[in-house]
Amino acid sequence: MDHFSYQNGVLHAEQVPLSAIAEAVGTPVYVYSRATLERHAQVFREALSVLPKVHLAYAMKANPNLAVLKVLAAEGYGADIVSGGELERALAAGMPPADVVFSGVGKDAAEMARALEAGLGQFNLESEEEGVELAAIAAVKGKRAVCTLRVNPDVDAGTHAKISTGKAENKFGVAYDRAAGIYARLSSLENLEMRGLAVHIGSQITDLEPSRQAFVKMGGLMRDLRGQGFTVTHMDLGGGLGVPYRAGEVLPDPAAYGAMVADVTRDWDATIMFEPGRVIAGNTGVLLTRVIRVKPGASSPFVIVDAAMNDLARPAMYDAWHDFAAVEPSGDRMTANIAGPICESSDTFAMGRDIDAVAAGDLAVFRTAGAYGATMANTYNSRPLVPEVMVDGTRWAIVANRIEPATILAAETVPDWLD
Ligand code: LLP
Repeated sequence: MDHFSYQNGVLHAEQVPLSAIAEAVGTPVYVYSRATLERHAQVFREALSVLPKVHLAYAMKANPNLAVLKVLAAEGYGADIVSGGELERALAAGMPPADVVFSGVGKDAAEMARALEAGLGQFNLESEEEGVELAAIAAVKGKRAVCTLRVNPDVDAGTHAKISTGKAENKFGVAYDRAAGIYARLSSLENLEMRGLAVHIGSQITDLEPSRQAFVKMGGLMRDLRGQGFTVTHMDLGGGLGVPYRAGEVLPDPAAYGAMVADVTRDWDATIMFEPGRVIAGNTGVLLTRVIRVKPGASSPFVIVDAAMNDLARPAMYDAWHDFAAVEPSGDRMTANIAGPICESSDTFAMGRDIDAVAAGDLAVFRTAGAYGATMANTYNSRPLVPEVMVDGTRWAIVANRIEPATILAAETVPDWLD
């Protein structure tokens, strides 16, 4: 459920007509609904309230906008971060450092040092080498780093290959068969406090079975480690729960996910940690765009919109589907290809799709664009960096400015030997 709805024939974000935002800010622009964000945060928390001990770390890579983080911090979420930049965002949003988890295969020495200084809650180590390096950095600082070991369970998440992370050939975590040995070695290092295991098998997962299999495997490993006398108090089950991108699509919801986790982890006696991203932020946002013109195509016309693959990369990168809807639909329909202005064929949002009939100048949205939308935007073709707006009831505010090509050009310099 979200708070984007038609009122008097005009698509609104909560009580604000999207046409008013387009008028004031221009297009393309991402528009987020605070009420939707809060609702998703609450629904996910509620779904997991069946577990005795839970820690929620929002995977901010999905949408790291500071206003979004503020809302989630107020909802009691910590963060899952993957870079020094994300750490600074978590701190800027007022998230307690102890509630922040640091994932990622390539944490560098400076990032690990800064995280230790900031009092980061947990490092999810992705290799033995990383653990040894972190222990050395912690020793110099006279600190102990609290860690889990991320394990690759070799389970196919059944999602797009580019967002699948839990198969043996993927770069993430340590091999399942080697995990116990590595855990033992890292537990012997004085400046590491190994307290558990972590797993994350992929994103936009639309079937609970692969996650169940992975969690069952992790439970087995947890028991082995405890049997060998090691401490395992925390089990981080990652993120990955998918969201419906097409109207009418029905997927396992957070409650079904929570019930599955409760079943698998019944006798774990551990704090169960989660790193949800998309399920929190996806439905919270739309990408608002204006139709530049409609031109004939071989089989269907091309609707050329002012948003492009640099603003919303998902269709170009993962063949992802985002529902398209007119802000003021006439009731007529058309079959069309939807494309942006960028000079490559991958800048196509949809082919031969049945959509609201639109014409030059009309406003429209790509729905479910709150996760992995603005954060993956870039300035390809020297386009501006897309702005973001948050709506709260009848009020709204720009929460990220449009960065104009001139600002980006100003950061470039020509060496004097070229003059
Ligand atoms: N934890 C870890 C360690 C992750 O790598 C990810 C996502 C998450 C949690 C959050 O997963 P979620 O709950 O959002 O599925 N750009 C792609 C998605 C990449 C996801 C990367 N890792 C897309 O647009 O579909």
